[in-house]
Amino acid sequence: MKVTILGAAGGIGQALSLLLKTRLPKGSQLSLFDVSPITPGIAVDLSHIPTAVEITGFTEDNIALAIKDAEIVLVSAGFARKPGMDRSDLLHVNAGIIKNLISQIAINSSHAMIGIITNPINTIVPIAAQVLKKIGVYNRKKLFGITTLDIIRTNTFLASLTGQQPESFNIPVIGGHSGSTILPLLSQTENNIQLTEKDIYNLTKCIQNAGTTVLESKSGGGSATLSMAYAATSFCLSLVRALKGESNIIECAYVEGPGEYAKFFSQPLVLGRHGITKYCSVQNLSKFEKHALINMLDQLKHDIQLGEDLAR
Ligand code: LMR
Repeated sequence: MKVTILGAAGGIGQALSLLLKTRLPKGSQLSLFDVSPITPGIAVDLSHIPTAVEITGFTEDNIALAIKDAEIVLVSAGFARKPGMDRSDLLHVNAGIIKNLISQIAINSSHAMIGIITNPINTIVPIAAQVLKKIGVYNRKKLFGITTLDIIRTNTFLASLTGQQPESFNIPVIGGHSGSTILPLLSQTENNIQLTEKDIYNLTKCIQNAGTTVLESKSGGGSATLSMAYAATSFCLSLVRALKGESNIIECAYVEGPGEYAKFFSQPLVLGRHGITKYCSVQNLSKFEKHALINMLDQLKHDIQLGEDLAR
């Protein structure tokens, strides 16, 4: 199985490369690409780690080789926020980068599962879909905006509030990946935990703001990279398991789905060899969650429309 990372020399890309070098199944190929000339060197560096994952690094004109025949392509390329910026402020600079990279994926490995990390995810994923459509290779069951970071944050924060183990939670987070469009379904918390209305409100705000909290704590040094790389690794390993035929792989991701709430929406999905096999419906929302869901939709639809217009 070949996995390619586009943007492999960045803060997320390097950590993601390290994690995948140590966690992909034996016999996998890991291919790194970045415009930075250090990328082949990153691959040499990682190649000294004794795992049975073959690693190669490409730069400049060798993008086709990096992507060729990949079954999974993860895209972390692009610029990160600086303090005071919103994710949407990255749109114009990152849209051009994404259009180019997605075209390369379409040409060199049109059947690949694509996982997008680049912000603003709410708008970048619809742009990627349009680019793939124009080239005639769009398969909505294989294009994912990776929102796993919101889920690991939810599980972590919930554990610290309740004193339970983070591994004991797996809370779905629906909607999109920015501000009020991030909606953790805290009412689906099991383990006999009773959260008060105040807990739910505060925790939801804390999860929605978590990216900004990291950004501000890094004092101008960028946004989340390490936790994002961990989240993307976890999502990628689920794709690998699904591609290998394992059943019952469920992940939330931002995809073009049934359109019950918005054309692109993050919700729990069942993954299989050919991508999404089932869109799980979002059920049993609390009053607070129903209200938050309705309130986010104008923003989410605006973000999606912006992407579709930009890609025309
Ligand atoms: C995050 O949630 O940490 C990322 O989307 C990066 C950011 O700009 O917040």
